[in-house]
Amino acid sequence: MASFPSFLHLSALALLTFSSLPCAKSYRNVSLGSSLTTSDPNTYWLSPSGEFAFGFRPLETDSSSFLLAVWFEKIESKTVAWYPRPYKPVTAGSSVELTTDGQLLLKDRSGSSLWDPGVSNAAYAALLDTGNFILAGANGSPRWESFQDPADTMLPSQVLEMDNKLLSRLTDTDYSEGRFELSMQSDGNLVLYAVAVPSSFQYDAYWSSVGNGTRLFFNQSGIVYLARKNNTNINITTAKMSSLEDFYQRATLDFDGVFRQYIYPKNGSGNGAWTADKWNMVDLKPTDICSSGPFQLGSGICGFNSYCTTSENSSVVCECPPQYSFLDPSRRYKGCKPEFPTQSCDADESEAASLYGFRTLVDVDWPLSDYEEYSPISEDQCREECLTDCFCALAVFHADSGTCWKKKIPLSNGKKASDVNRRGFLKVRIDSTSQPFSSTGEEKGKRTWILLGSSLLGVSLCVLMIAILLVTYWSFVGNKRLHKGQPPSSLPTLSLRWDEEATLDMRRVDRFVRVALWCIQEEPSMRPTMHKVAQMLDGTVAVPIPPDPSSYISSLLE
Ligand SMILES: *[C@@H]1O[C@H](CO)[C@@H](O)[C@H](O)[C@H]1NC(C)=O
Ligand SMILES: *[C@@H]1O[C@H](CO)[C@@H](O)[C@H](O)[C@H]1NC(C)=O
Ligand SMILES: *[C@@H]1O[C@H](CO)[C@@H](O)[C@H](O)[C@H]1NC(C)=O
Ligand SMILES: *[C@@H]1O[C@H](CO)[C@@H](O)[C@H](O)[C@H]1NC(C)=O
Ligand SMILES: *[C@@H]1O[C@H](CO)[C@@H](O)[C@H](O)[C@H]1NC(C)=O
Ligand SMILES: *[C@@H]1O[C@H](CO)[C@@H](O)[C@H](O)[C@H]1NC(C)=O
Ligand SMILES: *[C@@H]1O[C@H](CO)[C@@H](O)[C@H](O)[C@H]1NC(C)=O
Repeated sequence: MASFPSFLHLSALALLTFSSLPCAKSYRNVSLGSSLTTSDPNTYWLSPSGEFAFGFRPLETDSSSFLLAVWFEKIESKTVAWYPRPYKPVTAGSSVELTTDGQLLLKDRSGSSLWDPGVSNAAYAALLDTGNFILAGANGSPRWESFQDPADTMLPSQVLEMDNKLLSRLTDTDYSEGRFELSMQSDGNLVLYAVAVPSSFQYDAYWSSVGNGTRLFFNQSGIVYLARKNNTNINITTAKMSSLEDFYQRATLDFDGVFRQYIYPKNGSGNGAWTADKWNMVDLKPTDICSSGPFQLGSGICGFNSYCTTSENSSVVCECPPQYSFLDPSRRYKGCKPEFPTQSCDADESEAASLYGFRTLVDVDWPLSDYEEYSPISEDQCREECLTDCFCALAVFHADSGTCWKKKIPLSNGKKASDVNRRGFLKVRIDSTSQPFSSTGEEKGKRTWILLGSSLLGVSLCVLMIAILLVTYWSFVGNKRLHKGQPPSSLPTLSLRWDEEATLDMRRVDRFVRVALWCIQEEPSMRPTMHKVAQMLDGTVAVPIPPDPSSYISSLLE
């Protein structure tokens, strides 16, 4: 027994020596009347081992906002294991207090309550070595535990009881309500759902473990299992290691919808397969989230118009198809938008045929966005049907059965996987195909000059042709008028003929000007071919209204 106090003493000394943080009080229970404020984020309440801390953490995204949290104190990344739900941003000047009448209150600067666990008459609070923050009654039994009010993470020894759930965060650094939940349902099933933000509306389940479960355990041996009524267990995730004393552990419903179990070597050095100073994933559910679903409602695992793939380290990657870009690159789950004006339903079919084309997608599909199906049909017919249909954003063709599905925007449940076994034809503006531009101003400038140079060459040919045509046309018209020999207003019949001809002439001039404008598009791929120019001039094909030629250049120079 004699060694125990001296051990404590030594540890406290070590802590004081190696850190300037005011931790001296950390080994005691948190007594009534204690408080923490955001103005002093270096003060927090520690667990006896010093491995966990409770207090305010400045947000990575906004250092003037804070998160009330329990975190792994001894690791560099200070990974957050718990925070109160529902999430509310905590601004500077907020405080958390264990009041003299035994209530834990999170209050903002003005004193209004942001969160409280709904317990009064606690005798003290304590952060246990397991990472469980408790409010205890006078007899020492817990009246409230953070373990029973979890956020997105479970720690060893934590139990998820029936009717309780983990809820993912929105992004890695945004702790607000996310898009996925792991629910220990009262029917005994453990289920992963996508949820509609903002609300708790559940979309379809994308993974489940069914069969008379009672609760979800994370035990000290590194196994997360579902305990069943008949005293048998179903392993959900396991660390598959005999000794875990040298590792920190957690199991988190990550913001991408995957429930992952992680370990982190406590030693500074790595250990065999495990990387030092990093959470190493040891198991996950579901193993292939992109193949789960499809969801009847909502966008699926990734956002609308994007598709889901998994990287080698099993993280979910949401990608945009060609000529689509992220609505918000820092929040990819919001989905993708077309980078081109989508097909107008006012334009005629030949116009669509000239302005739109397809990018072929292999092994990518968006199940459930269909509105039309043809079978049997050839691949060429499938493309043609989509091209001339202004509602069609994508045609998917299954060669074996000769089936063609037309799909509309927004596309949902997108996934890329080798077992998709279909060809997708994504409708894009072919005449606005532009390469991705480097964002550095210098390169942009260079590119602009190269473009301008090459444009001028190509343009001059086209313009020359139109100029010749115009001159020829006007001289022809002039000759015709000369032969009429009379001022147009002198006779009513003649005047009528003149108006008709004038209108016709004006239409032709309009056509010439439009073609000329198409010819001087800065982006070479937008300029029509000589053959097309000839067709446009003689009226065989319609001439769409050309885009403003200066907008392209100005977008480059921005
Ligand atoms: C915390 O307080 C309780 C009740 O007063 C007491 O039983 C326990 O020993 C205290 N723990 C520590 C570490 O001081
Ligand atoms: C649950 O247990 C009951 C009997 O206790 C059994 O009839 C039923 O099939 C079980 N359900 C599942 C999903 O295993
Ligand atoms: C326990 O229950 C599950 C499902 O409810 C069943 O599949 C399993 O066979 C049962 N095991 C025993 C030992 O009764
Ligand atoms: C943890 O759970 C597994 C599987 O149920 C069991 O084999 C093991 O003994 C448990 N370990 C502890 C420390 O409870
Ligand atoms: C769960 O995992 C543990 C450790 O790997 C293993 O001993 C046990 O047999 C597993 N239980 C089941 C039901 O698979
Ligand atoms: C950590 O270090 C201790 C002593 O330095 C050693 O005994 C232990 O095996 C190490 N653990 C790991 C996981 O490397
Ligand atoms: C997994 O890989 C992706 C890219 O392939 C990377 O962005 C991400 O940081 C990696 N995650 C981990 C935990 O290593």
